Amino acid sequence: MKNHVNRVALIGTGSVGSSYAFALLNQGVTEELVMIDLNKEKSEGDAMDLNHGLPFAPSRTKIWFGNYSDCRDADIVVICAGANQKPGETRLDLVEKNTIIFKGIVDQVMGHGFDGVFLVATNPVDILTYAVWKFSGLPKERVIGSGTILDTARFRFLLGEYFNVDTRNVHAYIIGEHGDTELPVWSHADIAGTSIQEWMKKKPEYKQEHLDELFLNVRDAAYHIIQRKGATYYGIAMGLVRLTKALLQNENSVLTISAYLDGEYGQKDIYIGVPAVVNRSGIREIVQLKLNEEETEKFNNSVNVLKKTMSSVLL
Ligand code: LAC
Repeated sequence: MKNHVNRVALIGTGSVGSSYAFALLNQGVTEELVMIDLNKEKSEGDAMDLNHGLPFAPSRTKIWFGNYSDCRDADIVVICAGANQKPGETRLDLVEKNTIIFKGIVDQVMGHGFDGVFLVATNPVDILTYAVWKFSGLPKERVIGSGTILDTARFRFLLGEYFNVDTRNVHAYIIGEHGDTELPVWSHADIAGTSIQEWMKKKPEYKQEHLDELFLNVRDAAYHIIQRKGATYYGIAMGLVRLTKALLQNENSVLTISAYLDGEYGQKDIYIGVPAVVNRSGIREIVQLKLNEEETEKFNNSVNVLKKTMSSVLL
């Protein structure tokens, strides 16, 4: 008989946080979800609203509006709090204000004895994940950012649409900054074990420029969505649920998340999007793809852009 009750503590119940809570409940991923937010009224209302949906959920989840003391017994603390991109803003533009917010959050969480895994979603996610690692003092394996998990999903979705193949049979990664310097790893992209280059030969109408444009649509997807509806939240929320499931169910799944590099890919002291094996203890190991020259150059550029921005907030 399983006696451990999985608890997720969600900090920040804005659009992303509340969409994450909704998806978590509907996928029946955890037994307990505590919601923490400065806006008590809204967050309490979310907890009430979600509880009323329980009869329709696949399994029982105890949901309540709580406080930082509830983090003590949490397995995962998910941080969605902070300012989000407005039209015309890049993710990196948010770094100063969100780093200050995060210092306060992490001090509160750690002050109540949290000893689990942090999962960071707020942008710029790579830099804020590094900040949480620094502020918390937890081992690097237990501080994870959503990284390029959503970018990779967008990439796989659009490739599946283009080649008319179920996205689950498309294996392709976006790595680097979750942002403007991210890059596609074409050299390791395949459908059912056949390289994209081979698939391109199947029909004359398949063109390289289509793939180039497809990647730009992946990279700039958030801007296009924000322009239309003011924010993005469903895709990232589902990516966070996927990550939560891999953690709580000890899956050892490979997901492109923001992980700390300590020599992998020839880089050190940076959090950035790479494929990694994820299980209950956090990051088991980083998967080192053999990048070609062009991919290596773009990856190193992404690292440098992040490091330059990090230096502005003295992390
Ligand atoms: C996006 C946000 C999560 O890419 O950065 O939609």
